[in-house]
This record gives sequence, C-alpha cells and structure tokens, in this order.
Amino acid sequence: MLNPFDIVIFGGGGDLALRKLLPAMYRAYQEGNLPQGSRILPTVREQSKCEEYIETAHKALQDFLGKGEFNAKDWKAFSAYLVPVVSNVTEADDDWDKLRDILDEHDTDKSRVFYLSLPPAVYGSCCEILSKKGLITETSRVVVEKPIGYCGASAEEINAKIAEYFTEEQIFRIDHYLGKETVQNLMALRFSNSLFENMWDAKSIDNIQISLSETVGLESRAGFYDKAGALRDMVQNHLLQLLCLVAMESPNKLTANSIRTEKLKVLESLRPLVAEDVDANIVRGQYVPGNLDGKIVPGYLEELNEGASKTETFVAIRAHIDNWRWAGVPFYLRTGKRMKKRCAEIVVEYKKVSHNVYSDKVGNIEPNRLVIRLQPEETIQLTLMSKRLDNLEMQLEPVTMNIELSQAYSNGFHSDAYKRLMLDAAANNPSLFIHRDEVRQAWKWIDPIIERWQEKGAPSLYRAGSWGPEDADELLEENNHVWFNTGDKA
Ligand code: BG6
Repeated sequence: MLNPFDIVIFGGGGDLALRKLLPAMYRAYQEGNLPQGSRILPTVREQSKCEEYIETAHKALQDFLGKGEFNAKDWKAFSAYLVPVVSNVTEADDDWDKLRDILDEHDTDKSRVFYLSLPPAVYGSCCEILSKKGLITETSRVVVEKPIGYCGASAEEINAKIAEYFTEEQIFRIDHYLGKETVQNLMALRFSNSLFENMWDAKSIDNIQISLSETVGLESRAGFYDKAGALRDMVQNHLLQLLCLVAMESPNKLTANSIRTEKLKVLESLRPLVAEDVDANIVRGQYVPGNLDGKIVPGYLEELNEGASKTETFVAIRAHIDNWRWAGVPFYLRTGKRMKKRCAEIVVEYKKVSHNVYSDKVGNIEPNRLVIRLQPEETIQLTLMSKRLDNLEMQLEPVTMNIELSQAYSNGFHSDAYKRLMLDAAANNPSLFIHRDEVRQAWKWIDPIIERWQEKGAPSLYRAGSWGPEDADELLEENNHVWFNTGDKA
C-alpha cells in the first residue's frame, strides 16, 4: 500500500480538476487506495471560492462520477481529505506561506505532489514561486499536463523553466492515454504473447491504423482549442504515444528508462514530413453542421462563433517508421471531433496469403485483421478466413473472434486513467509519464507540419457525424487501403 501523500491541485476550480481529478481521487478512496493521512489541496484564487469549495466538489462528484458511484457515506469520508486553499499562481504573496505551513504541519518526508492543472504559460511562474517560498522538498514532484507548449521551441522553454526548480526525476508529464488500462494492455498483449510478437513486423503486416474518433465538439474549450487544433491536442501526444507502444521494440525490463528509451527510438525513426510531403501525406479537416445520431449539430465555426478559423478538428496522416522492423509499412493515424462514432482503436491488417490455392469461386480470401479497441468497449477482435460449415461446397468467409475484456470482471471495472496516474505520481513511479526527450522529439516531427499549414492551404470540410473529409479516404486509396470504420463493417 502506498504511503500517505499530499497532492496540491493548482487550478482546483478548473474544468480538469472538477471533471477528472476529483472523481479520480474519490474512486481511489472508494477502492481503498487513498491512504489515510493523505490530503488533497485544491487551490482557488479567492477566499470566497475557497469557502464554497467543499460544496463545489460535492456537486462536481455528483455530476461527473458514473452511475451509482456517488454515495453520501463515501462522500462524507472523502471530503475529510479535502483541504481547499487560496493561491494565485503568478504572485508570490502570503497565501503561499500559508500553503507551505499547511504542508509543513506534516512530516517533510511525506510525498508532495504539485499537480499543475493550469495553462502551460504559467507553469514557470508557479514552479518559481514554489521554490522561492520553500515548498519543494526532496520528496516533491510536479505533474504537468499536455500539450506542453505550442511548438518545439515553446515546449523547450517551458521544460527548461520547470527544470530550474525540479530535477527530471521529479517531473511527471502526463498523457492520460498512457494511464488507460487498455493502453497498458497493449504492451501486455505484445510482450506476453509469442503469437503476436512473432508476427509483428513488415514481413507479416501490411498496414496499421490508429484511430481516435470523438463525437464531441468544442465543449466550451474554444479559447484553448482554436489555438491548438487537433494536431497539437491529440496527435503530438496521444496518437504518437500510441504509435510508440504499437511500434516499439520490447524493453529489456519494465523500468521507466527502458520503456522511454524504446519509445524515443520510434519517434526518432519517424520519417520526417516536410513541405510537399505534408501536402501529400496529411489531410486536415474541419467539421460543418451535420447529423450525429439523428440530431443536427452545429459546425465548428458556429460553435466557435468568431467568424473565420483555419483550425483543424480532424487530422489523418500516412506515416512511416524507417527502421528494420517496419520498413515499407504505412501507419495511418487519424483523429477527429464530431465524427460518426466515439472510438479508439488499433487495426492491424496482415498481408494476404502468399499463394491462393482456392479458385475464385470460393469467395475472396481477405487478409487477417486484428482490431484492438481501447474504448468505448474494450475488445480484441481477430478476423480469420474459414470454410462455411453449413455448405457441402467449399465456400470461404471471414469469421471474427471477439474477446470482450470488460466481461471478464464480475464486479465490472472503472478504468480511470487519472486515478492511475495520480497514484503513480504519489508513489514516484514514472513509467507511464513522458520524458523531456520524448516531448522534444515529438515536436521535432510536428513542427514542420505546423509550418507548412501556416504557409499553405486550409482544412477540407467534413460533415459532423461522418468519418471525416473525403480526402482522408483518398489518402488510403492511393495505397489500395481503406479505413476500418468501426460499426460500418463486421
Ligand atoms: C484530451 C483532449 O487530451 O483528450 C480532448 O484535450 C479530448 O480534446 C480528450 O477530447 C479525449 O480523451 P478521452 O479519454 O475521452 O479519449
């Protein structure tokens, strides 16, 4: 069991804290994983907000926990862990001394986690004040959210500033996708089954698709999203991290360093996409009004309500990893908002059989396909060719083995990425966090794409409720491939 810890949530009244971080800690409490003697210290800017905070947290948990998770008894016990405090992250005023005194009431060996649920622009000043006011102890760690920066240079600046006050070992850069149990299962599948591992390379695999589609639109995040766009919001971090887990070599051990080293090698092997390569290999899109699940939803510009914007809400990329294992295998990466279905999945399309012994009359021999769905359901599907058993004639057809992972647990399971990652930060386990070198390398690949888009072109339009712009289908057709659109096919 974890030792008691203190976690200070800067930006405690913000959307992330109320929607994700408090529910995560509440779940940790319910499961018996929040050690007694721990404290959760959300910060707010004004005294009045501080006084109301317990009520704010109460409401947030009722609103954002899943069905049946909230109950008055657990809330009462959980609320005793909450110690709201006032703090202004850009001003080294007396409130910081009060915060330090509260933290110092407990043993200074106790783990301190400073969770910066703040805009990256103020990470630097917050860390500086933490240091100046003497809050950083040897057992302190800082957790920072993605995306770090808006380009490689700004990310470097932010990382350098944080590094003035915390060592790399104390810095925990979050990508919440890495905290999803199903994402960790990717490594388990690959590295504990010889079946997959022996058929995981260019000799066996034709192409791999990684697709993160969402049905939500702007969700009152216009200020952030219109500056970021899908490339920075989803590709630079979540999609590239998934790509790393799918494509990396087996780490020697499951230590943070071994895993990060292997992920970094994938990022370094990504073929750069520069100038015309960007036009040829990437499609960006923006949604216009459309029909989503029988309801007409507004387009991006209507939601934004600011006239024009070239911000992309969809990206599809044909990428290549130039190394021995993956030479010649296209990796298709796709993400978008307001798409037809919410789904995160990895689709591995195997090569065709090398020689067809059957005549054309028995049906098409389709290549095997492995689909690892990470959400909303956690399933693994393997499509194989099989003889129709109800027919004396030789007729072949694809059949799909479907493993529903969540059904394996009688008590159900709540995969909560933030719970997992917050407890890991408290336990000083950095395996599922991102190293500075990975951030740097990911931006190195993304920067030329941003530059090209600034110079040239505009997003293609796609209807809300569709699978994205037509150009994204054409991108795959060039290689005789098609997107595997979940639900559209068996
Ligand atoms: C966040 C992005 O990192 O991930 C959001 O900022 C996106 O735009 C979200 O909606 C998706 O996360 P999940 O866990 O719902 O797939």
